[in-house]
Amino acid sequence: MKIDFVALDAEADAVRAVAVLAFTEGALSPAAETLDAAANGSIKRAIVQGRFTGKAGQTLDLIAPAGVALARILVVGGGEADKFTPEAAEAFAASAFQALKTSGVETLDIMLTGLPAEAGAHAAFGARLASYRFDAYRTTEAEDKKPSITRLRVLCDDPKAAKKAYQPMDAVADGVFFTRDLVSEPANVLYPEEFARRVKKLEKLGLEVEILDEKEMKKLGMGSLLGVGQGSRRESQLAVIQWKGAKDADAPPIAFVGKGVCFDSGGISIKGAEGMEDMKWDMGGAGAVAGLMCALATRKAKANVVGILGLVENMPDGAAQRPGDIVTSMSGQTIEVINTDAEGRLVLADALWYCQDRFKPQFMVDLATLTGAIITSLGHDLAGLFSNNDDLSEKILAAGKAVSEPLWRMPMPAAYEKQIESLAADLKNIGGRAGGSITAALFIQKFVNGLPWAHLDIAGTVWRNPGVNAIAPSGATGYGVRLLDRLVKDNYEG
Ligand code: BES
Ligand code: MN
Ligand code: ZN
Repeated sequence: MKIDFVALDAEADAVRAVAVLAFTEGALSPAAETLDAAANGSIKRAIVQGRFTGKAGQTLDLIAPAGVALARILVVGGGEADKFTPEAAEAFAASAFQALKTSGVETLDIMLTGLPAEAGAHAAFGARLASYRFDAYRTTEAEDKKPSITRLRVLCDDPKAAKKAYQPMDAVADGVFFTRDLVSEPANVLYPEEFARRVKKLEKLGLEVEILDEKEMKKLGMGSLLGVGQGSRRESQLAVIQWKGAKDADAPPIAFVGKGVCFDSGGISIKGAEGMEDMKWDMGGAGAVAGLMCALATRKAKANVVGILGLVENMPDGAAQRPGDIVTSMSGQTIEVINTDAEGRLVLADALWYCQDRFKPQFMVDLATLTGAIITSLGHDLAGLFSNNDDLSEKILAAGKAVSEPLWRMPMPAAYEKQIESLAADLKNIGGRAGGSITAALFIQKFVNGLPWAHLDIAGTVWRNPGVNAIAPSGATGYGVRLLDRLVKDNYEG
């Protein structure tokens, strides 16, 4: 979809459909007022007759109203006029796009004249995020289901300013799309080496990408990560991505670490058949970190950032790790693997240890689809946040709130560590059923060497069906990219 920013009267004849804003209590936006006057009051009439309240996301589609050269006018609710935040502008344009995407309309004009340029930029961002589709494997599709919108124009007072404000948002959208593509791919296509290849291609953005193979990881002593991939025909990989955007390229970086289990069958502790296909997106943490690095490089963020992805496939096989096996992690700590399905923490253990050992970062944040228990605790709208640092937690919670990717901080009571004590090794990889997300976090904490650290359990937020809202339609959400981009932007860019 091509996106342009134009002034109101440009190419008036080319307009096919326009989306205008109406707020609660019938208040029209300045652009809607103008259009209503030109259309002989048809917008106001329709609002009165259409049970339209102006609630955010509500739409009213007026086909070819008399008096204007338009195919349709779409009235979109924007909520309360005095609470029209940048996020509301995103939601407005995203709802407009969803309402008309298969309508036959080819050009959609988003009318935001009379509002700040910033609103125009956010509208473009929202519409672009809404336009995501994963259709790599679709060979036929009914005509009326095919998307028709190929061009989006944001009509605003200062198109130049809007375009400028949109530039970095376009970079973030690139990152979100990169993540959604990775998360959507099936595991027969996206296995660790293929994931690594796609990440390697990000070098064209100015990122430094190193890929460690099994031999190199063995030399480093990563017995915990390697044990997980041991039953797979696919080689495990560790991707190390660096962005040096700060004035001092040697200043200590900040670091993000992702769980990249390209398929989680459970291993010998095999999962049930129902819903196992979902485990193709058990690499959503690594996917988010990869998308974040893509966004940061594209918008040339002024920060030094490291991204580390632990890429494995967890499969049952004659060579697979058994329950009861004891592995030695890179940290030197030994782990008794009670359940081979608690594999994400085994991957993160070595990825986090490697990260702090090599980069001495200011802090580490890991993202992982780690536990089903976090879905039981928080449902699908909130990710779980676990951390040893209040300041870092506050910053992450604030960023999540700002971009509508919210989290809830969970406790990490030291007393629960009893649950992961092993009879035979330093640690075991599961506790009891109770508080499963917490014992998982306590396990990971053993591998951060005291550094400020946060763990985001995103098992409930990576994949949504039905979709979350107009911006994140069904399937891969790209959760985490906007959140972490905002964390970096608000706190670590000089
Ligand atoms: N990848 C799963 C967690 C998961 C479950 C993510 C559902 C998304 C949706 C993880 O590797 C896992 O299997 N966790 C187990 C841990 C248990 C064996 C202690 C779980 O949550 O059941
Ligand atoms: Mn598992
Ligand atoms: Zn898993």
